[in-house]
Amino acid sequence: MKRILFASSEAVPFIKTGGLADVVGALPKCFDKSAYDVRIIMPKYQCIPDRLKELMQYKTHFYMDFAGASRYVGVLEANYGGIIYWFIDNEEYFSGPKPYTEWHWDIQKFMFFDRAVLSALPLLDYRPDIIHCHDWQTGLIPVYLHDSFQGGDFFRGIKTVMTIHNLKFQGNDNSLVFQRLSGLSDYYMTYDKLLMGPDGNMLKGGLVYADAITTVSDSYAEEIKTEFYGEGLDGLMRARAHDLRGIVNGIDYDIYDPATDKDIAFNYTADNAPQKKLENKRALQKELGLGSGDNRFMLGIVSRLTDQKGFDLIAYVMDKLCQKDVQIVILGTGDQKHEDMFRWFAGRFPEKVSANIYYSEPMSHKIYASCDAFLMPSLFEPCGLSQLMSLRYGTLPIVRETGGLRDTVEPYNQFTDSGTGFSFTAYNAFDMYNTVLFAHSIYIDHRDAWNRMIGRAMNKDFSWQASAEKYREMYDWLIG
Ligand code: ADP
Ligand code: GLC
Repeated sequence: MKRILFASSEAVPFIKTGGLADVVGALPKCFDKSAYDVRIIMPKYQCIPDRLKELMQYKTHFYMDFAGASRYVGVLEANYGGIIYWFIDNEEYFSGPKPYTEWHWDIQKFMFFDRAVLSALPLLDYRPDIIHCHDWQTGLIPVYLHDSFQGGDFFRGIKTVMTIHNLKFQGNDNSLVFQRLSGLSDYYMTYDKLLMGPDGNMLKGGLVYADAITTVSDSYAEEIKTEFYGEGLDGLMRARAHDLRGIVNGIDYDIYDPATDKDIAFNYTADNAPQKKLENKRALQKELGLGSGDNRFMLGIVSRLTDQKGFDLIAYVMDKLCQKDVQIVILGTGDQKHEDMFRWFAGRFPEKVSANIYYSEPMSHKIYASCDAFLMPSLFEPCGLSQLMSLRYGTLPIVRETGGLRDTVEPYNQFTDSGTGFSFTAYNAFDMYNTVLFAHSIYIDHRDAWNRMIGRAMNKDFSWQASAEKYREMYDWLIG
């Protein structure tokens, strides 16, 4: 039996702020249980809903020296959907209404988590063959493993994988503070290891010390070797190019299935999608107080409202867009300026714009099901799951050709009658605007072609099967 331990700051269904949680919650289910024992370890946040906390059972606890004090580390266990989840408990670090809080505090919190994960393993009597680390929050696990967990047989030979879901977030802090909190020696604070500018950098640590590195699409794996997308780590990415591979994300086909989804008004399959999507659209127009009208071109956005997602392009042409016969439904939270922009347009065009500035899984499903198209003009996008969810629901994505968007959305070609969405290349508001108008014209003037595209989008396979197989091959290769 091969043992793989996922270490992550989020996982569905316990806690989610973005796609990382979807990936970590879905991928472990896709391995053959008779050969792979895949488990997940994550923090026990106070803000995990009570109904899920009730599934957790006390496993063990101990005290660990960390950042100048002896600190409590509890471990709880839950079995969810046949997968074992472990939760690291410490009320000082993991309390509060959200998983992430203030920047410096988050760094300390996840350094604690990384040390606690390794310290807990012998007590759990579980020796993983591989620890699969996700994003900066787990970047010190490969470093600590190299540094202070090598004495004795237990840790010797454990391999690590570092998966980059977003290179923008690295977990860096002033090197003196970083060193004091992490307890790492001067040896690690050099430019070829964890130092970057004046800061210590958690993700960089993981990328230097992991045995293998992955990221979540082929295009992003190439992009991060360049200065524009490399976020200061492109040199390291080039240096480790042989250990870096792109494996595109999938989505959980049990959760995202228009045929069985309980959150949407009318279920459907590829065979009856155009009619049923229209019925869903009418229901959503009514629920959100938008103007009625079957032919109004409804654009959906479900997103963290941050600069990464291209909202400055949308802001630039929003007024012009609202002069057209379109409706725009937004669901998201994030930067104040983007939230305010959408609220302002919703106030000005109440028949056309619905700004839902909150987080809601059921509403996200309704948008994926009801809209005609989904707008995602990202500046960069490691993979993107929202466009995959849209495709699955026959809502055609309009995307910028970057990262995973480029790899998963095939642009419509009128001449060959092929494609599953629409795309543009340059990060330019007018290119985006013209692409939206082009999609609108196909929707209005060539409805047959549009409906055929819905069929193609829904019949694409973005389940986890093919990608899980690539992870499996990598695990086998690492374990040898
Ligand atoms: P990222 O991880 O960069 O935020 P992804 O496209 O990979 O982007 O994943 C975003 C995930 O978060 C999707 O599952 C999407 O449906 C969900 N999501 C984002 N914002 C909201 C929201 N306000 N309410 C519900 N789900 C949301
Ligand atoms: C990150 C990226 C997103 C990706 C997700 C899951 O949040 O921004 O593109 O889909 O991680 O890998």
